[in-house]
Amino acid sequence: MPDMKVNLAGMTMKNPIVVASGTFGFGREYNEFFDLGELGGICAKGLTLLPREGNPAPRIAETPMGILNSVGLQNPGVDAFIKEELPFLRQFDTKVIANISGNTPEEYGIMCDKLAAAGVDMIEVNISCPNVKAGGLAYGTRPDLAAEVTAMARKHAGSVPVMVKLSPNVTDITEIAKAVESAGADAVSLINTIRGMRIDVNTRRPVLKMNTGGMSGPAVLPVAVRMVWEVANAVKIPVLGMGGVAKGEDAAQLMLAGATAVAVGTSLFADPYAAIKVRDELAAIADRQGLASVRELTGGVKPW
Ligand code: FUM
Repeated sequence: MPDMKVNLAGMTMKNPIVVASGTFGFGREYNEFFDLGELGGICAKGLTLLPREGNPAPRIAETPMGILNSVGLQNPGVDAFIKEELPFLRQFDTKVIANISGNTPEEYGIMCDKLAAAGVDMIEVNISCPNVKAGGLAYGTRPDLAAEVTAMARKHAGSVPVMVKLSPNVTDITEIAKAVESAGADAVSLINTIRGMRIDVNTRRPVLKMNTGGMSGPAVLPVAVRMVWEVANAVKIPVLGMGGVAKGEDAAQLMLAGATAVAVGTSLFADPYAAIKVRDELAAIADRQGLASVRELTGGVKPW
């Protein structure tokens, strides 16, 4: 079998498969199904400085080949994560990536201080949540603000790698990628969800209480592959690719487009074993192609 190890911005993972933030909680429920140590890494649910209850329901709805969510960053806050969830995650032989969102650059800095001291393996800086009024997309759609948040995170994260999560809800994602690279990001992850809306034709009400939400699932995969390809060609830092991955072939597409590693998200809601299956199918593809290492897939696309 091919060597499945990958190195994402200095963080060595036993395989390239990570579970995406917001689709895995803090791992406790999935631990009922499989050993979390099978994963390359776990991106924990997005954290804020203080606990948040999130947005009012309904906040999840199905779409053709995916879902819309407007969860609104429900989470127990960074301190509770460090005290109660990180020790649980640390029992497993996998990398732990904390995902953070802030209302101000200073909040990102404070959270990075705390998480670096607590010893997470990587910090994913979320500047792309479409479901909150302050922070979120406001930072992820403007290169200057994206750079400001990244510089603050980098300054406070010490030796912990900083990966910035990019939004697809922009005209040119490479502009944001280049801005965060210049500001010190060690890696980028993409794509977060695509803004969407569904309407109940009988009530004439949007199906989500917040009216709009973020779309994810298999329908977004081609958008993710295109954006990963564009970003990988625009920056030198590594890319964690995500968006609609449900099969090993999907993960292979993202790697060929330039991703070093791949996150599995929405498909976990339909099949808790999805990430494990994607890992095994990816290994089988690399094996069939006679590769010594899965790393040989990264950037291997042959554009016409
Ligand atoms: O609403 C949410 O919790 C989603 C966050 C995100 O997409 O970053």
